[in-house]
Amino acid sequence: MRDQYGRTVDYIRVSITDRCNLRCRYCMPEGIELVSMEEILTYEEIERICTAAAKTGIRKLKITGGEPLVRLGCAELIGRLKQIPGMEQVTLTTNGVLLKEQLPDLKAAGLDAVNISLDSLDRESYRKITGRDQLPLVLESIEAVLESGIVAKVNSVLLKSVNEKEWEDLAGLAERYPLDVRFIEMMPIGYGRQFEAVSNEEIRKKLELRYPEMAADEREHGNGPAQYYQIPGFQGSIGFISAIHGKFCGSCNRIRLTAQGLLKPCLCYGETYDLRSALRTEKKEEGEYLLQKQIQNAVAGKPEAHCFEAVQEITEDRKMVQIGG
Ligand code: 5AD
Ligand code: SF4
Repeated sequence: MRDQYGRTVDYIRVSITDRCNLRCRYCMPEGIELVSMEEILTYEEIERICTAAAKTGIRKLKITGGEPLVRLGCAELIGRLKQIPGMEQVTLTTNGVLLKEQLPDLKAAGLDAVNISLDSLDRESYRKITGRDQLPLVLESIEAVLESGIVAKVNSVLLKSVNEKEWEDLAGLAERYPLDVRFIEMMPIGYGRQFEAVSNEEIRKKLELRYPEMAADEREHGNGPAQYYQIPGFQGSIGFISAIHGKFCGSCNRIRLTAQGLLKPCLCYGETYDLRSALRTEKKEEGEYLLQKQIQNAVAGKPEAHCFEAVQEITEDRKMVQIGG
């Protein structure tokens, strides 16, 4: 489906829980309030929404959280979503803590690819950022996922004076393993507002100094707005998702579903389209029609661009853990 600015919207990010087994400082610090379980969509409801989304032209779906793997039966849900006619790709974003143990089920479900969030390779620094000492498990998951043959990427957020110097180690993962490493600029959403974004351009320049043979990589890598570079000798590429210093709204292809069933046309604005009420209307057929209508309304209502550069204009006050990133 096309929006009013001519962008094709064919990708939905679906948050299935606001729970998480880590407490990343910029996303879900200790003590954050959780949504009550009754408010969270059931798997059946998520499946109905995704079926309606496929009917309106959505072709790719990413399961997000919180941490999606903490919700029981995530792999089974993925298996069901893979069966939806027209849905070409179902992928997952995870912090990797539970990935290794759930990998056989995820593989059997037909998962197409996985993004692993990892901001540090130093155990102490990892613990400081995430509040938990789980780095060894995540590293095991990375190796296991690569062995399984599922395509994997690593996503890293650099925080000023916390892990900003770790860009070289993190980039090194793409040398050691056949996976892309992407640097995501911190966005001023939720607790992220309290941190200063490290500019990706700065990291790119440092990387170029370190690896002068680095060159732009124009191949297609996924659904997102990352710009990729190849370094000779590296098995994977390095990507930059520069939400702040390199606005990419002109090619935005996505909508987001919160765990409570609210459809968000843009990360930056609080406006949502309530799919849960559409789901819970009496007559099921009418509900299906309403769902499709609301999805079309959300696409039609997609703003032209975010306003992260003018923080006072951001109207989203949900936390990232409720939106799914
Ligand atoms: N800005 C950018 N990325 C964020 N994430 C969480 N909060 C923010 C933010 N404010 C990232 C996590 C994870 C993904 C789901 O979203 O690091 O990689
Ligand atoms: Fe959990 Fe991911 Fe948020 Fe960290 S960034 S608290 S792993 S949802």
